[in-house]
Amino acid sequence: MEGITGDLVRIAYLVAFALFIVGMAGLTSPTRAVRGNRIAAVGMAIAVVATLFDQGVGDYALIALGIVIGTVVGVPAARRVQMTAMPQMVALFNGVGGGAIALIAWAEFRRSGGDITNLEIGVPLVFAAIIGSISFWGSNIAFAKLQGLISGTLKIPGGLFVNIGLMAAALACGVALLAGSDSELLFILLLVFAAILGTLAVLPIGGADMPVVISTLNAFTGLSAAAAGVALDNVALIVAGMIVGASGTILTNQMAKAMNRSIGSVLLGGFGGQAGGGAQAGAEGEQGTVRSTSAADAAIQMAYASQVVVVPGYGMAVAQAQHAVREMTKELEKRQIEVKFAIHPVAGRMPGHMNVLLAEADVPYDQLKEMDEINGEFPRTDVSLVIGANDVINPDARNVPDSPIYGMPILNVDESSSIIVLKRSMSSGFAGIENPLFFNDKTQMLFGDAKGSVGEIVSELQSL
Ligand code: TAP
Repeated sequence: MEGITGDLVRIAYLVAFALFIVGMAGLTSPTRAVRGNRIAAVGMAIAVVATLFDQGVGDYALIALGIVIGTVVGVPAARRVQMTAMPQMVALFNGVGGGAIALIAWAEFRRSGGDITNLEIGVPLVFAAIIGSISFWGSNIAFAKLQGLISGTLKIPGGLFVNIGLMAAALACGVALLAGSDSELLFILLLVFAAILGTLAVLPIGGADMPVVISTLNAFTGLSAAAAGVALDNVALIVAGMIVGASGTILTNQMAKAMNRSIGSVLLGGFGGQAGGGAQAGAEGEQGTVRSTSAADAAIQMAYASQVVVVPGYGMAVAQAQHAVREMTKELEKRQIEVKFAIHPVAGRMPGHMNVLLAEADVPYDQLKEMDEINGEFPRTDVSLVIGANDVINPDARNVPDSPIYGMPILNVDESSSIIVLKRSMSSGFAGIENPLFFNDKTQMLFGDAKGSVGEIVSELQSL
């Protein structure tokens, strides 16, 4: 890339990086997130177009074909995807990124005639191939699990040692290539060992832990892209890869922290494996009587409240109850009742899950309160209306050191005067454990699908 074209490409890359940063800054607030996303997308488009001006980029007809196939597959899929299916969509897109990087590394190996003894190029190339392949196969398994194509978890005896062995084998192939071997078979073996490692590492992990796994794999894809950028001497790939690598790492950390889980325990498999299972025994002696209520009673209680806090969880996403919830909020506000939403950082199954759903239903942002902000409000809340949330309101996380979720910060719903829980049954949530809040004297259960129950409450409020 020389002369005036090279300079223009470099300037275009700089503009693209600036747009990435401005776009990402927009993502820090829900009001600016959509605009931020668009700005970053424009930055990416500029980086792609600039790269096409690179003389060595290759066959334009093939590139055009790739763009057409990608657009035809990607755009309708992204448009049609349900909000609840977003985690598997992200897994799939992330996997494609990792796979592309592994293929780029392979293509570069071939282009060099198998000579990667120049370590400045060879080392990042080997790194990109191994991590890209792990990310591609691991993400595909994560997708298959979240989509229900693979059920349960598969624990391989001595899995950790098998995985260490696979990593050692992949690295050994890499070292042999860097030392002077030009065998393409060795490069393919490196990709295959990494592929088996990615597959075996993700298979034992519980489906519900997958968001943490996906963001880890996302960080991997970013790092492999940055490594490929070093090998190809492409600054855009380095910068974009590092942004993805860094943000994926930060997100993984934040999710693990909000769930009070170490990343190691997630990656080595843990209570996520029990997700979807029936309720298990919780803390001894906490079981008691469950009181059920009707939509009419729930409506009356809320109609006479001065403050209602809505606590949404995964069940609201499953039921797609957010629009009905917005209707209910309007009915309550007509009666001068203050309505707030308590947002737990890991409510649902992906970061920001509740914010996205509620924004889709036009719930004003200033009604959404983060955990630290709302926890002080529960003692002066008349009714907490829990909609499909379970683990994020489980007092065992505060009180029972043996509980698998002990230490996870929760919403202190039990401090409000009265609690109404909307769910279909007494089944457990993601952690597979019982929730003593459901047996609390102040709690009433409104059984049924959340959308139906909230709809009934709205009708009752309208008829009061
Ligand atoms: P959960 O603890 O998973 O509980 C969801 C509840 O929703 C279930 O108990 C279920 O009970 C109910 N439900 C399901 N479908 C429903 C429907 N159609 N109508 C009404 N209720 C329905 O949810 P949560 O409180 O949001 O907690 C999230 C959990 O996921 C946490 O343990 C968290 O650590 C974990 N997690 C979160 C993330 C992120 S980033 N958000 C990532 C990984 C893991 P019924 O079956 O009885 O209806």
